[in-house]
Order: sequence, then structure tokens, then C-alpha cells
Amino acid sequence: MSDTIHIELTINGAAKSADIDPRLLLVEAIRDTFGYKGTHIGCLTGDCGACTIELNGEIEKSCLVLAASADGGEIRTIEGIAPDDGGLHPVQQAFWDEYGFQCGYCLPGMLFAALDLIESNPTPDEAQIRHAISGNYCRCTGYNNIVTSIQTAAQRMAAAK
Ligand code: FES
Ligand code: FES
Repeated sequence: MSDTIHIELTINGAAKSADIDPRLLLVEAIRDTFGYKGTHIGCLTGDCGACTIELNGEIEKSCLVLAASADGGEIRTIEGIAPDDGGLHPVQQAFWDEYGFQCGYCLPGMLFAALDLIESNPTPDEAQIRHAISGNYCRCTGYNNIVTSIQTAAQRMAAAK
């Protein structure tokens, strides 16, 4: 193909490269070019949060980023948040224990929103949690169990320090 550009990324610690259409969205590259299907597509307009990933240490809605503009970047997807020993990250465990998801479609984005919040604010109150997930839609849970899950995760992570 003639109109491609070459990009190189690190995804969950692994070096990746591809020749891509310059118009390809980062979410499409993550899912379709590199095969990390845990990053979901909902709206493609930046509203739902299902495509949230971490890019160079900041959470981003990957449908709002061109893959070409992420060239050279470090990405963490939902597949990269669990520890290498096969267990769950404390935030994942809390969502499991507190029934923080049903279909799971929103879950990658919710987990990244939770991680980002707890990193900057280890003891968030309910209002702060609801604000932190305000860019992430869930069509199943009614949000209450998500809030409880994030509270539980924050408490456990603070206690483990
Ligand atoms: S798919 Fe990116 S915010 Fe909805
Ligand atoms: S668990 Fe189904 S969309 Fe949130």
C-alpha cells in the first residue's frame, strides 16, 4: 500500500510496529492491527469511555487519537493492568467482589478511570468517584456498584501501603 505510514509503539511493555493508514484511529490500531480486543469501541465520538487506555501515563479515549499521532508512545491497555502472576489488580478484584459490572463492556474504561483517580487521590469520596467516572457510560449497573467497587479498591490499596 502506498499511502501508509510506519508507527512504532510499546503496548503493555511489548514493542509493536506496523504500516498503517494515516487516518486510522488509535482504538482501531490497538484492536485490529495489534489485537488487544479488551479495548472496546462504543461511540467513536469520545462520549462513552469504552475505548479508554493509558498513553504515556495519561488516560485517553483512544477513539479521539489518531494512531499516527501516538507514534513512539507507551500504551497500557486493560490486558496490561493485572500483575504477571496471573492474579487480578486490586481494582479488578474489587469490581469482581462488589459486582461492579454486568456485561463488562464499559469495564476497561471504568477500571482506567478508577486507577487514574486512586493514583491522584487515594481516599476519594463518593462525589469524587462519580465525577471521575462521569466520562464513562455504563448501560447495565446503575453505577452504584461501580462506586462501591472503587471505594473498596481505594480502601484496600491504601491499607496495603
Ligand atoms: S468509543 Fe471512544 S469514547 Fe466511546
Ligand atoms: S457493565 Fe454493561 S455497560 Fe457497564
